[in-house]
Amino acid sequence: MSILKTEKLTKKFGGLVAVNNIDFEVNEREIVGIIGANGAGKTTLFNCISGNLQSTSGKVIFNNKDITGLKPYEIAALGLARTFQVARPFANKSVLYNVTVGSFLRTNKKSEAIENAKEIINFLNLSSKMDVLAKNLTLPERKRLELARALATKPVLLMLDEVMAGLRPSEIQDMLKIIEKINKEGIALVIIEHIMQVIMSVSNRIYCMNFGQKIADGTPEEVTKDPNVVKAYLGDEYGILKN
Ligand SMILES: Nc1ncnc2c1ncn2[C@@H]1O[C@H](COP(=O)(O)OP(=O)(O)OP(=O)(O)O)[C@@H](O)[C@H]1O
Ligand SMILES: [Mg+2]
Repeated sequence: MSILKTEKLTKKFGGLVAVNNIDFEVNEREIVGIIGANGAGKTTLFNCISGNLQSTSGKVIFNNKDITGLKPYEIAALGLARTFQVARPFANKSVLYNVTVGSFLRTNKKSEAIENAKEIINFLNLSSKMDVLAKNLTLPERKRLELARALATKPVLLMLDEVMAGLRPSEIQDMLKIIEKINKEGIALVIIEHIMQVIMSVSNRIYCMNFGQKIADGTPEEVTKDPNVVKAYLGDEYGILKN
């Protein structure tokens, strides 16, 4: 069953078609990876789905409801959360404060919001940083905070925009375990990531974009063998290594 579906979604910036006629679908509990070169339109697709940008044309359907044109907080309230490629925490506030802000989407009781935030902070192994100001976190901690803020809104679909960029291999492994744990709780995920081994290992399905358009949609194995993907993104070298 599909939880998210875009129909001919298009976003133009002047003459540039950043997202071009995109039909993109995510099924319940699925992990879908989105790949594509810099500027392919991946983040713009997220922005149009989450309501952070108004699409030029096309539709976004979430849980069988047309959410096209809704405001970001309305979409979040329906259970769709996302992280930002450039993290946007309240820099001068603590980890607990930042995550609690997310919890308030589901409750207006302060004690409940804090309780929920603490649970998520524990889940993301950030308990020892609870009272640290966001601006004083290390990069991997900031990435986990970004994830915690999104999770605090209790989503059924979570979209992650390069949450592993800049992390060391061991930190990436930690993040992958967290992602798998989130998915086991029944949450569907869409993950934008440039690190091929990582996205191929965690995703059930891969969607590849190039110049705003879809060029492939299939299992990791199918997509890495797709000549269009190899040509546009992976490069011949990767293709040779894989064959
Ligand atoms: N607000 C904006 N105004 C004008 N052009 C934009 C805007 N946002 C993105 N673009 C352009 O749209 C295209 C798609 O950008 P987008 O950020 O979606 O790519 P991306 O696939 O996420 O790339 P990256 O891998 O580098 O994050 C690029 O050409 C970019 O310069
Ligand atoms: Mg991007």
